[in-house]
Amino acid sequence: MSRILVVGGGGREHALCWRIGRDRPDAELFVAPGNGGTAGLATAIPLAANDIDGLVAWCVDMRPDLVVVGPDDPLAAGLVDALVRVGILVFGPTAAAARIESSKAWAAEVCAAAGVPMPESYAFDVADAADAFVHREDRPFVVKADGLALGKGVIVCDSVAQTHAAIDRLARCGEVGSAGERLLLQERLRGPEASVFAICDGSSFHVIGTARDYKRIGDGDRGANTGGMGAYSPLADVSSEMLADIETRIIAPILAELRRRGCPFVGFLYAGLMLTADGPVVIEFNARMGDPEAQVILPLLRFDLVSAMEAAVAGRLSEFAVPPSSGAAVCVVLASRGYPGAYQTGVVIRGTDEADEDVLIFHAGTRGDDGDGAGLATSGGRVLGVTGLGADVIEARARAYGGASRIRFDGAAWRSDIAAGPAEVARAAEGSIA
Ligand code: AMP
Ligand code: GLY
Repeated sequence: MSRILVVGGGGREHALCWRIGRDRPDAELFVAPGNGGTAGLATAIPLAANDIDGLVAWCVDMRPDLVVVGPDDPLAAGLVDALVRVGILVFGPTAAAARIESSKAWAAEVCAAAGVPMPESYAFDVADAADAFVHREDRPFVVKADGLALGKGVIVCDSVAQTHAAIDRLARCGEVGSAGERLLLQERLRGPEASVFAICDGSSFHVIGTARDYKRIGDGDRGANTGGMGAYSPLADVSSEMLADIETRIIAPILAELRRRGCPFVGFLYAGLMLTADGPVVIEFNARMGDPEAQVILPLLRFDLVSAMEAAVAGRLSEFAVPPSSGAAVCVVLASRGYPGAYQTGVVIRGTDEADEDVLIFHAGTRGDDGDGAGLATSGGRVLGVTGLGADVIEARARAYGGASRIRFDGAAWRSDIAAGPAEVARAAEGSIA
């Protein structure tokens, strides 16, 4: 029997706990801090995901066989490094390797060194220098805060004036705190976005799926940016030839370059791409699974995820066979009214126990029955992710929305166009979506 700790408390970590519990029903599973949905799957440890000292102390005491780190913050803060130092096996990148996500300027430099396709990029330590550059170039740019900024650090600009305003907001007004002390200006690219996920052991890797997420709060990609309002997998517009190209021209060279720099990447690598007329181009790397992408990728895997993570930590992923995923999954996020602005919490949730087979309900911002009989209630902005599974995206989508309609809490808000973009509709009409 193995003892496994999952670090994090969102929908992604619920999906990780669910998958680990399914693959390893005998495992003794712990989660820190978990949420209302992980309660039935794992023992909750009341430690925040970024409480590095607390987590290390718990691990020294409890000696888990494997630790899986979900969110970006503890990775960037060195949780993996700290656990390795006390001899704990941990799946996730070191802080040095996680810089591929935590510093966009460094990621651009690594991409350039690796010859990986990316937009023209310019890094600035001083806002005045960025302004002077934009003035000289006299064209708009995408302005990115260098550091982690909870999805709020990127401003896509249409004009030179907007570009100057974006520099001001990110670097001078402190909108994203210290993340904006350094800026990256990028050429704006056009095309659909696609995310590709790989499990990596520092040298070799396996692609485990493709997904598309929906970052805006409103239908038709309108309104404020959120942590993600839904996702689906796989992507019909990423062919197997394109995926092979992404592996050879993007993922393999990035991993080789990180290794060359002395920071081999172990963990889930998330490549955020734009499918341009000239082929796939990297717009970001993340050093973890996506949220809510994990909620559509993990259910489709046809291998034992724990064995794969153990093989990755041992540097033996090349010996581990990863069969391609089959079927499709669509996740619809139910949010609290007002999110991503201010919202109420403590709202009672009903209907989560009425889900059909082929519908998985992953909790994000919920808290369980505290023993006072109050039952399940909201505790965050993104409350639940309802994942529908099916033979294709159309079937999965119908199940996700069917499942979502059975859940009731006051002020529940969701997008109605997840997995219904023009590309998907067109392909479904042609009968080619799979
Ligand atoms: P990121 O956090 O880097 O993925 O950026 C957030 C969002 O900004 C992306 O999902 C894109 O929609 C957009 N974006 C980022 N970089 C670019 C770019 N170079 N050109 C066009 N849009 C971009
Ligand atoms: N869904 C976007 C992310 O996890 O970064």
